Amino acid sequence: MRGLKVSAVAGLVLFLVLLYALVNAETFGVKKRMPRPDEYGNVVIDNYSTKKHIAPVVFNHWLHRAKYTCRLCHVDIGFAMKAGGTGITELDNKSGLYCGACHNGKEAFGAEERHITGKTIKNCDRCHSYGKKVKFKYNFYKFTKGFPRARFGNRVDWLKAEEMGLIKLKDYLEEVSIKRRALKIPKDMELKAKEIDMPDIIFSHRKHAVWNGCELCHPDIFGVKKGSTKFSMQDIFNGKYCGACHGKVSFPTYDCQLCHSKEVY
Ligand code: HEC
Ligand code: HEC
Ligand code: HEC
Ligand code: HEC
Ligand code: HEC
Ligand code: HEC
Repeated sequence: MRGLKVSAVAGLVLFLVLLYALVNAETFGVKKRMPRPDEYGNVVIDNYSTKKHIAPVVFNHWLHRAKYTCRLCHVDIGFAMKAGGTGITELDNKSGLYCGACHNGKEAFGAEERHITGKTIKNCDRCHSYGKKVKFKYNFYKFTKGFPRARFGNRVDWLKAEEMGLIKLKDYLEEVSIKRRALKIPKDMELKAKEIDMPDIIFSHRKHAVWNGCELCHPDIFGVKKGSTKFSMQDIFNGKYCGACHGKVSFPTYDCQLCHSKEVY
C-alpha cells in the first residue's frame, strides 16, 4: 500500500519533469516548432537544383519507410544519413544510382515515361517539388489512415504497423543488394540513465534489427561491446548516437518515456 503511494508520487514527479522537458523540447533549453505529421522526416535536397534553375527536391521518409527498410537505402544504396550529404546528381540517377536505383520506370516511376499514346510524360515535378503545387499520387493522411497511432513524429506507430503486417518492408533490391546470411540478434539490454530520478533505457536489438539490420549502427555509431560507447543525453539531442535517427526520422527525442521506459521503484 505504502509502496504504491510512493511510486504514485514518484510517477507524478517524473511526469512533471518530463512535461517540463517536453515544453522545452529538443534540447535542454532550445525550443523548436513541432513539425506536422506529414512533414516529419522530410528532407529537402538542394546542392545543385537552385543553381541549375530547377526546384529543390523533397524526399519523404514516411512513404519510403513504409515500403523499404532503412538498411536497404542507407547501406545497400548508400544514401548519407545527413540531408544533402550524398551529393546526388541527375546523371547518378540516370545511371541507376541513388534515387535512380528504384526510380527507373520499373521499381518506381522514372524521370520520363512513355504514355500508351506515345507521348512522353515528365515526372520531374514529383521530385523537384519544393515550393510548388504538385499533384502527388500519395497523400500522407490517406496513406496512413487506419495505421496504429503514436504521440509524436509522423504520429504513426511504425513498429506496430510492421508487426501487424499493414506495411511490408523490402530489404533486398535486385542488382543492388547482396544476399547475406542474417546474424543472430542479441537480447534486449538496459542502458543506465546514470541519474537517480531518470528511468533507465531498454534498448531492443530485435525491434531495431527489423529496420536497421546491423550495419546501420555497427561499427560506426556504436561499438559491439556493451558499455564501450560513451555518450550523454545532450549528445543525443545534438543528433549523435541514438539521435542519428531519433529526432530526424524515427520518433523524436522529446518522447522521453519511449526510451526511458524501465519502471522506477
Ligand atoms: C526520383 C526523383 C527525381 C526525378 C523524377 C527527377 N530528379 Fe532531378 N534530381 C533529383 C535529386 C535527388 C537531385 C539532387 C538535387 C540537389 O542536390 O539539388 C536532382 C538533381 C537535378 C538537377 C541538378 C543537378 C544536375 O545533375 O544537374 C537537375 C538539372 C535535374 N535534377 C533535372 C531533372 C529533370 C529535368 C527531371 C525530369 C526529366 C528530373 N530531374 C527528374 C531527383 C529527381
Ligand atoms: C528509399 C530510401 C530511404 C529509406 C527507406 C530510408 N531513407 Fe533515410 N534518407 C534517404 C535519403 C535519400 C536521405 C537524404 C540523403 C541526402 O540528402 O543526401 C535520407 C536521410 C536520412 C537522415 C538524415 C535526415 C536529416 O534531416 O539530416 C536520417 C537520420 C535517415 N535518413 C534515417 C532513416 C531511417 C531511420 C530510416 C528507416 C526508418 C530511413 N532513413 C529510411 C533515403 C531513405
Ligand atoms: C528503394 C527504392 C526507392 C528509392 C531509392 C527512392 N524511391 Fe521514391 N519511391 C519508391 C516507390 C516504390 C514509390 C511509389 C511509386 C508509385 O507507387 O508509383 C516512390 C515514390 C516517390 C515519390 C512520391 C510521388 C507521388 O506522386 O506521390 C517521390 C516524391 C519520390 N519517390 C522521390 C524520391 C527521391 C527524391 C528519391 C531519391 C532521393 C527516391 N524517391 C528514392 C521507391 C524508391
Ligand atoms: C539501432 C542501433 C543498433 C542496431 C541496428 C544494432 N545494434 Fe548492436 N548494439 C547497439 C547498442 C546501442 C549497443 C550497446 C553499445 C554500448 O553499450 O556501448 C549494442 C551492442 C551490441 C553487442 C554487444 C552486446 C553485449 O551484451 O555485450 C552485440 C554483440 C551487437 N550489438 C550485435 C548486433 C547485431 C548482430 C546486430 C544486427 C542483428 C545489431 N547489433 C544491430 C545498437 C544497435
Ligand atoms: C540507425 C537508426 C537508429 C538508431 C541509431 C537508434 N534507433 Fe531506435 N529506432 C529506430 C527505428 C527505425 C525505430 C522504429 C520506430 C520509429 O522509427 O519511430 C526505432 C525504435 C526504437 C524504440 C521503440 C519504441 C517502441 O515503440 O517500442 C526505442 C525504445 C528506441 N528506438 C530507442 C533507441 C535508443 C535508446 C537508441 C540508442 C541507444 C536508438 N534507439 C538508436 C532507429 C534507430
Ligand atoms: C532515443 C532514446 C531516448 C530519448 C527519446 C530520450 N533519452 Fe534520455 N537517454 C537515453 C540514453 C541511451 C541515455 C544514456 C546515456 C548514457 O549512456 O549515459 C540517456 C540519458 C539521459 C539522462 C542522464 C544524464 C545525461 O545527460 O546523459 C537524462 C537526464 C535524460 N536522458 C533525460 C531525457 C529527457 C528529459 C528526455 C525527453 C526530453 C529524454 N532523455 C529522451 C535515450 C533517450
